[in-house]
Amino acid sequence: MGLIYARAFLKYNIVTKENLLLVEKSEARKQELLKLNVGEVTVPNDTKIAESDIIFIAVKPQDFDVLAVELKPILQSAKCIISIMAGMKISRIAAALNNSNIIRAMPNSPAELGMGMTAFATNGIMAYEQLRKAEHVLGTTGRSLYLENEEELDAVTALSGSGPAYFFYIVKHMIEAGKRMGFDEATSSLFVKQTMLGAFHLINNGNKPLDELIKAVASKGGTTEAALSVFNEAQVGENIQKGILKARDRSEELSK
Ligand SMILES: NC(=O)c1ccc[n+]([C@@H]2O[C@H](COP(=O)([O-])OP(=O)(O)OC[C@H]3O[C@@H](n4cnc5c(N)ncnc54)[C@H](OP(=O)(O)O)[C@@H]3O)[C@@H](O)[C@H]2O)c1
Repeated sequence: MGLIYARAFLKYNIVTKENLLLVEKSEARKQELLKLNVGEVTVPNDTKIAESDIIFIAVKPQDFDVLAVELKPILQSAKCIISIMAGMKISRIAAALNNSNIIRAMPNSPAELGMGMTAFATNGIMAYEQLRKAEHVLGTTGRSLYLENEEELDAVTALSGSGPAYFFYIVKHMIEAGKRMGFDEATSSLFVKQTMLGAFHLINNGNKPLDELIKAVASKGGTTEAALSVFNEAQVGENIQKGILKARDRSEELSK
Protein backbone atom coordinates (compact mmCIF):
# COMPACT_ATOMS: atom_id res chain seq x y z
CA MET A 1 0.00 0.00 0.00
CA GLY A 2 2.88 2.35 0.80
CA LEU A 3 4.25 1.94 -2.69
CA ILE A 4 0.80 2.40 -4.25
CA TYR A 5 0.53 5.75 -2.46
CA ALA A 6 4.08 6.78 -3.39
CA ARG A 7 3.31 6.13 -7.07
CA ALA A 8 -0.03 7.96 -6.83
CA PHE A 9 1.67 11.03 -5.25
CA LEU A 10 4.12 11.17 -8.16
CA LYS A 11 1.39 10.61 -10.75
CA TYR A 12 -0.63 13.56 -9.45
CA ASN A 13 2.43 15.76 -8.84
CA ILE A 14 1.83 15.96 -5.10
CA VAL A 15 5.59 15.61 -4.69
CA THR A 16 8.66 15.16 -6.86
CA LYS A 17 10.82 12.03 -6.76
CA GLU A 18 13.60 14.09 -5.15
CA ASN A 19 11.28 15.05 -2.27
CA LEU A 20 9.74 11.65 -1.69
CA LEU A 21 11.37 9.65 1.05
CA LEU A 22 10.59 5.93 1.27
CA VAL A 23 11.33 4.38 4.65
CA GLU A 24 12.17 0.68 4.69
CA LYS A 25 13.81 -1.45 7.34
CA SER A 26 14.96 -4.47 5.33
CA GLU A 27 18.18 -4.08 3.33
CA ALA A 28 16.97 -6.41 0.55
CA ARG A 29 13.70 -4.52 0.14
CA LYS A 30 15.59 -1.20 0.21
CA GLN A 31 17.63 -2.36 -2.78
CA GLU A 32 14.42 -3.36 -4.61
CA LEU A 33 12.86 0.04 -3.90
CA LEU A 34 15.97 1.83 -5.15
CA LYS A 35 15.73 -0.07 -8.43
CA LEU A 36 12.10 1.06 -8.83
CA ASN A 37 13.37 4.65 -8.81
CA VAL A 38 10.28 6.03 -7.06
CA GLY A 39 12.08 8.23 -4.57
CA GLU A 40 14.91 8.38 -2.08
CA VAL A 41 15.09 5.35 0.22
CA THR A 42 16.08 5.55 3.86
CA VAL A 43 15.91 3.79 7.24
CA PRO A 44 13.28 4.34 9.99
CA ASN A 45 15.61 6.32 12.32
CA ASP A 46 16.74 8.88 9.71
CA THR A 47 16.16 12.37 11.20
CA LYS A 48 15.40 13.64 7.69
CA ILE A 49 11.94 12.01 8.01
CA ALA A 50 10.99 14.80 10.46
CA GLU A 51 11.45 17.44 7.73
CA SER A 52 8.57 16.00 5.66
CA ASP A 53 5.28 17.92 5.37
CA ILE A 54 3.34 14.68 5.57
CA ILE A 55 4.45 11.37 7.05
CA PHE A 56 2.59 8.33 5.84
CA ILE A 57 2.53 5.16 7.97
CA ALA A 58 1.72 2.01 6.01
CA VAL A 59 3.17 -0.86 8.06
CA LYS A 60 1.03 -3.76 9.28
CA PRO A 61 -0.59 -2.92 12.64
CA GLN A 62 1.46 -5.62 14.39
CA ASP A 63 4.71 -3.97 13.17
CA PHE A 64 3.79 -0.52 14.47
CA ASP A 65 5.15 -0.85 18.03
CA VAL A 66 8.65 -1.63 16.75
CA LEU A 67 8.51 1.21 14.21
CA ALA A 68 7.11 3.66 16.80
CA VAL A 69 10.15 3.20 19.06
CA GLU A 70 12.38 4.40 16.20
CA LEU A 71 10.08 7.19 15.02
CA LYS A 72 9.13 8.65 18.41
CA PRO A 73 12.34 10.67 19.00
CA ILE A 74 12.22 12.21 15.51
CA LEU A 75 8.50 12.88 15.01
CA GLN A 76 7.75 15.11 18.02
CA SER A 77 7.14 18.21 15.91
CA ALA A 78 5.69 16.57 12.76
CA LYS A 79 2.61 18.50 11.57
CA CYS A 80 0.75 15.73 9.80
CA ILE A 81 1.05 11.97 10.23
CA ILE A 82 -1.34 9.84 8.18
CA SER A 83 -1.84 6.23 9.21
CA ILE A 84 -3.58 3.66 7.03
CA MET A 85 -3.10 0.87 9.59
CA ALA A 86 -6.37 -1.03 9.94
CA GLY A 87 -7.88 -0.93 13.42
CA MET A 88 -5.15 1.23 14.99
CA LYS A 89 -6.81 4.02 16.97
CA ILE A 90 -5.63 7.62 16.72
CA SER A 91 -5.14 7.78 20.51
CA ARG A 92 -2.80 4.78 20.40
CA ILE A 93 -0.73 6.17 17.52
CA ALA A 94 -0.58 9.59 19.20
CA ALA A 95 0.62 8.07 22.48
CA ALA A 96 3.22 5.85 20.80
CA LEU A 97 4.66 8.77 18.77
CA ASN A 98 4.09 11.49 21.35
CA ASN A 99 2.40 13.57 18.65
CA SER A 100 -1.30 14.33 18.28
CA ASN A 101 -1.28 15.49 14.64
CA ILE A 102 -2.63 12.17 13.44
CA ILE A 103 -5.02 11.37 10.61
CA ARG A 104 -6.36 7.84 10.47
CA ALA A 105 -7.45 6.64 7.04
CA MET A 106 -9.03 3.45 5.75
CA PRO A 107 -8.40 2.84 2.04
CA ASN A 108 -9.25 -0.25 0.00
CA SER A 109 -7.44 -2.31 -2.62
CA PRO A 110 -8.79 -0.62 -5.81
CA ALA A 111 -6.56 2.28 -4.67
CA GLU A 112 -3.96 0.49 -6.78
CA LEU A 113 -5.81 1.63 -9.93
CA GLY A 114 -6.81 5.05 -8.63
CA MET A 115 -10.35 3.74 -7.99
CA GLY A 116 -10.14 3.34 -4.25
CA MET A 117 -12.53 4.52 -1.56
CA THR A 118 -10.90 6.03 1.51
CA ALA A 119 -12.49 7.37 4.65
CA PHE A 120 -10.47 9.37 7.15
CA ALA A 121 -10.85 10.88 10.58
CA THR A 122 -8.84 12.96 13.04
CA ASN A 123 -8.94 13.57 16.77
CA GLY A 124 -10.58 16.93 16.06
CA ILE A 125 -7.56 19.10 16.81
CA MET A 126 -5.85 18.95 13.42
CA ALA A 127 -5.52 22.37 11.73
CA TYR A 128 -7.87 22.88 8.76
CA GLU A 129 -4.90 23.49 6.43
CA GLN A 130 -3.36 20.10 7.33
CA LEU A 131 -6.71 18.38 6.90
CA ARG A 132 -7.14 19.90 3.45
CA LYS A 133 -3.64 18.75 2.46
CA ALA A 134 -4.35 15.25 3.75
CA GLU A 135 -7.58 15.04 1.76
CA HIS A 136 -5.67 16.04 -1.36
CA VAL A 137 -3.02 13.38 -0.70
CA LEU A 138 -5.55 10.61 0.02
CA GLY A 139 -7.61 11.58 -3.02
CA THR A 140 -4.74 10.54 -5.33
CA THR A 141 -5.93 6.93 -5.04
CA GLY A 142 -9.63 7.55 -5.69
CA ARG A 143 -12.50 9.10 -3.72
CA SER A 144 -12.06 10.15 -0.11
CA LEU A 145 -14.52 11.12 2.59
CA TYR A 146 -13.90 12.86 5.91
CA LEU A 147 -15.69 11.35 8.91
CA GLU A 148 -16.41 13.43 12.01
CA ASN A 149 -16.39 10.35 14.16
CA GLU A 150 -13.37 8.02 14.22
CA GLU A 151 -15.54 5.13 15.46
CA GLU A 152 -17.32 5.03 12.10
CA LEU A 153 -14.08 3.69 10.61
CA ASP A 154 -15.06 0.23 11.89
CA ALA A 155 -18.15 0.29 9.66
CA VAL A 156 -16.04 1.66 6.79
CA THR A 157 -13.58 -1.20 7.26
CA ALA A 158 -16.48 -3.67 6.99
CA LEU A 159 -18.11 -1.93 4.02
CA SER A 160 -15.46 -0.54 1.67
CA GLY A 161 -12.23 -1.91 3.23
CA SER A 162 -13.35 -5.54 2.99
CA GLY A 163 -15.90 -4.78 0.25
CA PRO A 164 -13.71 -5.75 -2.72
CA ALA A 165 -13.41 -9.28 -1.28
CA TYR A 166 -17.23 -9.64 -1.11
CA PHE A 167 -17.47 -8.61 -4.74
CA PHE A 168 -14.70 -11.05 -5.78
CA TYR A 169 -16.55 -13.79 -3.86
CA ILE A 170 -19.79 -13.21 -5.77
CA VAL A 171 -17.97 -12.99 -9.11
CA LYS A 172 -16.07 -16.20 -8.32
CA HIS A 173 -19.30 -18.12 -7.64
CA MET A 174 -20.94 -16.76 -10.78
CA ILE A 175 -17.94 -17.94 -12.83
CA GLU A 176 -18.15 -21.36 -11.13
CA ALA A 177 -21.85 -21.59 -12.05
CA GLY A 178 -20.90 -20.83 -15.67
CA LYS A 179 -18.37 -23.68 -15.57
CA ARG A 180 -20.99 -26.07 -14.16
CA MET A 181 -23.14 -25.22 -17.19
CA GLY A 182 -20.31 -26.23 -19.54
CA PHE A 183 -18.32 -23.06 -20.27
CA ASP A 184 -14.56 -23.04 -19.86
CA GLU A 185 -13.05 -20.66 -17.27
CA ALA A 186 -12.15 -17.92 -19.79
CA THR A 187 -15.56 -17.86 -21.44
CA SER A 188 -17.45 -17.92 -18.16
CA SER A 189 -15.14 -15.15 -16.82
CA LEU A 190 -15.83 -12.99 -19.86
CA PHE A 191 -19.61 -13.31 -19.43
CA VAL A 192 -19.50 -12.58 -15.72
CA LYS A 193 -16.93 -9.75 -15.72
CA GLN A 194 -18.56 -7.85 -18.56
CA THR A 195 -21.98 -8.34 -16.93
CA MET A 196 -20.76 -6.97 -13.58
CA LEU A 197 -19.07 -4.03 -15.31
CA GLY A 198 -22.18 -3.15 -17.31
CA ALA A 199 -24.46 -3.64 -14.29
CA PHE A 200 -22.23 -1.38 -12.18
CA HIS A 201 -22.51 1.38 -14.78
CA LEU A 202 -26.30 1.04 -14.78
CA ILE A 203 -26.24 1.66 -11.02
CA ASN A 204 -23.73 4.48 -11.26
CA ASN A 205 -24.91 6.31 -14.37
CA GLY A 206 -28.61 5.49 -14.53
CA ASN A 207 -31.29 7.02 -12.35
CA LYS A 208 -33.32 3.93 -11.44
CA PRO A 209 -33.30 2.65 -7.85
CA LEU A 210 -31.86 -0.85 -7.26
CA ASP A 211 -35.27 -2.50 -6.74
CA GLU A 212 -36.45 -1.15 -10.07
CA LEU A 213 -33.28 -2.35 -11.82
CA ILE A 214 -33.86 -5.83 -10.36
CA LYS A 215 -37.53 -5.79 -11.39
CA ALA A 216 -36.59 -4.78 -14.94
CA VAL A 217 -34.55 -7.99 -15.36
CA ALA A 218 -36.73 -10.34 -13.29
CA SER A 219 -39.99 -10.83 -15.16
CA LYS A 220 -42.77 -12.83 -13.47
CA GLY A 221 -42.24 -16.58 -13.72
CA GLY A 222 -38.98 -16.09 -15.64
CA THR A 223 -35.39 -17.22 -15.28
CA THR A 224 -34.07 -14.38 -13.08
CA GLU A 225 -36.98 -14.83 -10.71
CA ALA A 226 -36.13 -18.55 -10.47
CA ALA A 227 -32.59 -17.65 -9.36
CA LEU A 228 -33.73 -14.91 -6.98
CA SER A 229 -36.24 -17.22 -5.30
CA VAL A 230 -33.38 -19.64 -4.47
CA PHE A 231 -31.30 -16.72 -3.10
CA ASN A 232 -34.24 -15.47 -1.01
CA GLU A 233 -35.03 -18.93 0.34
CA ALA A 234 -31.40 -19.26 1.48
CA GLN A 235 -31.59 -15.70 2.89
CA VAL A 236 -28.51 -14.71 0.87
CA GLY A 237 -29.31 -10.99 1.15
CA GLU A 238 -29.86 -11.14 4.90
CA ASN A 239 -26.69 -13.21 5.33
CA ILE A 240 -24.61 -10.74 3.32
CA GLN A 241 -25.79 -8.01 5.68
CA LYS A 242 -25.07 -10.19 8.72
CA GLY A 243 -21.57 -10.93 7.39
CA ILE A 244 -20.81 -7.22 6.99
CA LEU A 245 -22.06 -6.44 10.52
CA LYS A 246 -19.82 -9.27 11.79
CA ALA A 247 -16.85 -7.67 9.97
CA ARG A 248 -17.70 -4.36 11.70
CA ASP A 249 -17.79 -6.14 15.10
CA ARG A 250 -14.43 -7.79 14.38
CA SER A 251 -12.93 -4.42 13.45
CA GLU A 252 -14.17 -3.02 16.79
CA GLU A 253 -12.65 -5.99 18.64
CA LEU A 254 -9.30 -5.65 16.86
CA SER A 255 -9.00 -1.96 17.62
CA LYS A 256 -9.41 -2.50 21.39
N1 LIG B 1 -3.95 -4.06 1.52
C1 LIG B 1 -5.13 -3.46 1.66
O1 LIG B 1 -6.09 -3.60 0.90
C2 LIG B 1 -5.33 -2.50 2.82
C3 LIG B 1 -6.54 -1.81 2.95
C4 LIG B 1 -6.68 -0.91 4.02
C5 LIG B 1 -5.66 -0.74 4.92
N2 LIG B 1 -4.50 -1.46 4.79
C6 LIG B 1 -3.45 -1.25 5.78
O2 LIG B 1 -2.29 -0.83 5.10
C7 LIG B 1 -1.14 -1.26 5.84
C8 LIG B 1 -0.17 -1.89 4.89
O3 LIG B 1 -0.74 -3.03 4.31
P1 LIG B 1 0.02 -3.82 3.16
O4 LIG B 1 -0.94 -4.84 2.66
O5 LIG B 1 0.63 -2.86 2.20
O6 LIG B 1 1.19 -4.53 4.04
P2 LIG B 1 2.64 -5.03 3.57
O7 LIG B 1 2.62 -5.44 2.14
O8 LIG B 1 3.10 -6.01 4.61
O9 LIG B 1 3.54 -3.72 3.67
C9 LIG B 1 4.01 -3.24 4.88
C10 LIG B 1 5.42 -2.74 4.66
O10 LIG B 1 5.91 -2.19 5.88
C11 LIG B 1 7.27 -2.57 6.02
N3 LIG B 1 7.67 -2.48 7.42
C12 LIG B 1 7.30 -3.26 8.47
N4 LIG B 1 7.90 -2.87 9.60
C13 LIG B 1 8.66 -1.79 9.28
C14 LIG B 1 9.52 -0.93 10.02
N5 LIG B 1 9.74 -1.11 11.33
N6 LIG B 1 10.15 0.08 9.37
C15 LIG B 1 9.94 0.26 8.04
N7 LIG B 1 9.15 -0.51 7.27
C16 LIG B 1 8.52 -1.53 7.90
C17 LIG B 1 7.27 -3.98 5.52
O11 LIG B 1 8.59 -4.38 5.24
P3 LIG B 1 8.97 -5.96 5.30
O12 LIG B 1 8.21 -6.63 4.21
O13 LIG B 1 10.43 -5.91 5.09
O14 LIG B 1 8.56 -6.44 6.69
C18 LIG B 1 6.40 -3.86 4.27
O15 LIG B 1 7.16 -3.42 3.17
C19 LIG B 1 -1.64 -2.21 6.92
O16 LIG B 1 -1.60 -1.56 8.18
C20 LIG B 1 -3.06 -2.51 6.53
O17 LIG B 1 -3.89 -2.67 7.68
C21 LIG B 1 -4.31 -2.31 3.76
